[in-house]
Amino acid sequence: MTKGIQTSAIVLRQPTADDAAALHQLIADCPPLDPNSLYCNLLHCTHFSGTSVAAVRCDTQGRERLVGFISAYIPPRQSDTLFVWQVAVAEEARGEGLARRMLDSLLTRPACGNVRYVDTTITPGNQASWAMFESWARHHGAPTSSQVHFERERHFAGRHDDEHLMRIGPFEIAAEFAT
Ligand SMILES: CC(C)(COP(=O)(O)OP(=O)(O)OC[C@H]1O[C@@H](n2cnc3c(N)ncnc32)[C@H](O)[C@@H]1OP(=O)(O)O)[C@@H](O)C(=O)NCCC(=O)NCCS
Repeated sequence: MTKGIQTSAIVLRQPTADDAAALHQLIADCPPLDPNSLYCNLLHCTHFSGTSVAAVRCDTQGRERLVGFISAYIPPRQSDTLFVWQVAVAEEARGEGLARRMLDSLLTRPACGNVRYVDTTITPGNQASWAMFESWARHHGAPTSSQVHFERERHFAGRHDDEHLMRIGPFEIAAEFAT
């Protein structure tokens, strides 16, 4: 792959069902993210497309390559909260602010008009994820809090680390994310 292709512009857009197979592979290429069934990825690319984002690079033939994705949704009965489930950035696109850009873009979506909080869960050992969300919160001057949410023995039958819920917000107005 040439440097020219690697540095071509990355476009952010809503995902469609046609992104699901590439998303499945991207997640597999981004440990420590949990792989999901392809069917689950299809649901995120369709039912939750209004609150999820795909980042793609185009080659000279106009073919897209998925280099980033955020799966997120507004939980039932929590209309002021965007729950971010997975953030994945392909190695070739890391360190360029793509995760931050994708998060910002979600907050400009019509579906997020009432959102004042961003929630996510993070395992204690995922330093990249803690650093990324803390940096994003700092960037927007938003407070953060965290506490154990899903527990290794109680909820994961010992097969997965604790997941800590990190809450970011409240944001003053979603409009602050407008570009
Ligand atoms: C974590 C991940 C999404 C970051 O993507 P990215 O596009 O490289 O992140 P950004 O460039 O937008 O960086 C945003 C901030 O996070 C910090 N950050 C990103 N990766 C980091 C890492 N590995 N270690 C420490 N800090 C990191 C950056 O320094 C930046 O903060 P700063 O501007 O204050 O310096 C990407 O490395 C990834 O997909 N990792 C594997 C999957 C994963 O762990 N996902 C997160 C869990 S949901």
